[in-house]
Amino acid sequence: MKKFAVIGNPIEHSLSPTIHTLFAQEQGEVIDYKKLLSTKNTFQEDIKLFFDNEGIGMNVTIPFKDNAYLISDENDKSSILCKSANTLFKKDNKIKSYNTDGDGLLNDFDKNSIDVENKKILVIGAGGAAKSILTTLCNRKPNSVHILNRTKNKIPIILDNIKTNTTINIYEEGMNFDLIINTTSISMINSEIIFPKNIFMNDSISYDLFYSKQKTKFQLWSEESGAKEAYNGLGMLIEQAALSYEIWNNYKPDTTHIKKSLGF
Ligand code: ATR
Repeated sequence: MKKFAVIGNPIEHSLSPTIHTLFAQEQGEVIDYKKLLSTKNTFQEDIKLFFDNEGIGMNVTIPFKDNAYLISDENDKSSILCKSANTLFKKDNKIKSYNTDGDGLLNDFDKNSIDVENKKILVIGAGGAAKSILTTLCNRKPNSVHILNRTKNKIPIILDNIKTNTTINIYEEGMNFDLIINTTSISMINSEIIFPKNIFMNDSISYDLFYSKQKTKFQLWSEESGAKEAYNGLGMLIEQAALSYEIWNNYKPDTTHIKKSLGF
């Protein structure tokens, strides 16, 4: 049986094993896809052990995506552009890193007819999640990309760490946007949303990278603040998983029915 895993900390609530098992069923295969809880000190050893024991592919999640990029033998362009990886693949005795988060987000945008081209885009947050989507967004020819973060001095640090062909600007009070993407953990924590409500226009669309069965806190806040539509990141989770599955198995899964199968 082909062996896969997702590694992170925490990891118990990960939907990746279920999603990948559904993809494998569709392909007519049976796979072994496990959750691996790791720590900063053991991460490199945990990866080595998995691949030494016939592991084929691994997904990497918070907080190890930057480490995964650094410890790989080879890196695909998708991970080089953001110096971070969510997918590892062992081939010819080498571990190669990829990042499918950015393209996963764009594929979900396509599924929901959310346009990037010629749109004014705001990315909220300057952490790892923002880093992995900014370059792919910039490649879709937006009108402009701005970034807003609670801690302003973290913005130059993230901008130094990514390669784009579009200038990323810093948000200024009074600006509004066609598409607002939340990459912060605000939906997951018990704290009030402090971002300005006038970032929304009548036809603004909001997208929260986090997801839950009910609408996320950021989705609800966006609707209250005037967004026309507010999405959460379940679709992105499924699409990034499909891209990883394709890298490992050379098979493109159909993602249409996955949300329903997951009970969402
Ligand atoms: P990740 O890898 O998930 O992006 P991270 O690197 O810790 O996680 O980044 C978390 C992001 O959420 C940061 O942009 C953080 O803002 P700061 O740089 O100001 O810390 C943002 N964030 C977390 N809690 C927040 C809150 N209560 N209000 C606003 N932003 C918050």
